[in-house]
Amino acid sequence: MSAYKFIDHKFDVVVVGAGGSGLRAALGCAQAGLKTACVTKVFPTRSHTVAAQGGISASLGNMSPDDWRWHMYDTVKGSDWLGDQDAIEYLTRNAPAAVYELEHWGVPFSRTAEGKIYQRAFGGMTKNYGDGPIQRTCAAADRTGHAMLHTMYGQSLAHDTEFFIEYFALDLIMEDGVCRGITAWKLDDGTLHRFQAQMVILATGGYGRAYFSATSAHTCTGDGNAMALRAGLPLQDMEFVQFHPTGIYGAGCLITEGARGEGGYLTNSEGERFMERYAPSVKDLAPRDMVSRAMTIEIREGRGVGPNKDHINLHLDHLDPKILHERLPGISETAKVFAGVDVTKQPIPVLPTVHYNMGGIPTNYHGEVVTKAGTNPDQIVPGLMAVGEAACVSVHGANRLGSNSLIDLVVFGRAAALRCAEILTPMATQPELKDSMTDGHLARFDRFRNAAGGVTTASLRLEMQKAMQEDAAVFRTGESLKSGVKRLQAVWDKKADIKVTDRGLVWNTDLMETLEFDNLIGQAVVTVTGAVNRTESRGAHAREDFSDRDDKGWMKHTLTWLDATTGKVKIDYRPVHSYTMSNDIAYIPPKARVY
Ligand code: FUM
Repeated sequence: MSAYKFIDHKFDVVVVGAGGSGLRAALGCAQAGLKTACVTKVFPTRSHTVAAQGGISASLGNMSPDDWRWHMYDTVKGSDWLGDQDAIEYLTRNAPAAVYELEHWGVPFSRTAEGKIYQRAFGGMTKNYGDGPIQRTCAAADRTGHAMLHTMYGQSLAHDTEFFIEYFALDLIMEDGVCRGITAWKLDDGTLHRFQAQMVILATGGYGRAYFSATSAHTCTGDGNAMALRAGLPLQDMEFVQFHPTGIYGAGCLITEGARGEGGYLTNSEGERFMERYAPSVKDLAPRDMVSRAMTIEIREGRGVGPNKDHINLHLDHLDPKILHERLPGISETAKVFAGVDVTKQPIPVLPTVHYNMGGIPTNYHGEVVTKAGTNPDQIVPGLMAVGEAACVSVHGANRLGSNSLIDLVVFGRAAALRCAEILTPMATQPELKDSMTDGHLARFDRFRNAAGGVTTASLRLEMQKAMQEDAAVFRTGESLKSGVKRLQAVWDKKADIKVTDRGLVWNTDLMETLEFDNLIGQAVVTVTGAVNRTESRGAHAREDFSDRDDKGWMKHTLTWLDATTGKVKIDYRPVHSYTMSNDIAYIPPKARVY
């Protein structure tokens, strides 16, 4: 497309995204002597990792004895046996070193009286293979992500990562199944760029904004996932969407699980601590899928609180105000601002709210993107890696345990950098890029820029978000999911009639939101299609018409490919890795998930 000219850049590694996983990967690659770029839509310290509150899991054993094997067991059980056990072993055994690395870089962790890193209890984290709760989540008050992100950005600047800030990544440059780089649009001057690299690492986060109410930032539009789909690659396990039990009713802002870790509890309209009925041993510290379902059942059965009996109370008012001030200052303020509640005196009104995507771009535990090719379910896609929420390693399987996300970011960000150091040669010659590799990127960009239809992006986005919220919720049925598929296909079809009013290239937020919407709708379509296809209940995917887990039929990963023209989805499967990485722990066979 001659109307547009690219500015060209050449690097060994291009990391897309500057949240926790992107910064950790970029830092590691730069340390290894690889010429590294980090291309990011937002200023690094505004990436969504900044909003992570409660903490980062690692079996440090600072509060009581702990073992990475217990952490591994909890993560496998939390995943409802959909997690890959080799990857889970890699995560949990490398977690303590990753936390100490953060400490040495300067993350201001909260401290015990002895000066050790403070650890709090989180859902599903137990001692001795399920023997009651354990304090395993390392915390910097309730601003752990903020502390980590700022520290890691500082560290990245101390190394030679080159940052390209407020560049919106458009598409993957692919040649015969090999990734050669990315294209991007610089938002503040309207220029278009080609970043060529031996390795692209997608660290673009989740797509929570496909839903109407989410704890995710508005920037969480899964841009890397959508780039993978457009490149003809599959996404994995997209039907598994996590609802965090305690989003503020009405506003959706996160109230950390750390609130329950510090002794907070949920009550219904009868003042009952109902979690005692659903999870007698761990109660309010059950995994998120279980707590969200319990809350939904309480509301459905008429025991919700408030005039419309449509939410639940979270109590912190029995806790020492000094503890609240020291350990939960952020959510105390959030509750005041967004719910008008003084947490020392009143309960916080809460409701399960979309929080995290377990699904994403399939990878192995080195961060290399894999796809299914013929009979090989683990075929590596050369030149492409994915880390963080964008990736599906899969350590979280069907349900992620709270605080396993921050540790996933740094452990696998580091793993990807180690792999790059192992397989790449600094400044190796790269093949010439051809226009034919990027013509499609420009055609898409130009089509949306000049879209002169009759329907606004905002109205289509709302239609998509409402369909997702209503039809792919905490509980699903075949009927609701089929309705979701139909409603989303209608939104997809209306995309042909979309209207963009700003034709400019400089800070064109109308165009940017349209590109983001286009990214979201593809992911929404594969999410509901994967969900209608999976006729069982597992982790966060709770089918009322198929209420049991079916290990014989469904202990496998869903792969979904999207036809970028028609919006039609193709489905296939990869086996769950039912083996560990080493002989230090045996495979953990499936059993009932009782807490
Ligand atoms: O509740 C929280 O603080 C969230 C943590 C997480 O999603 O890991």
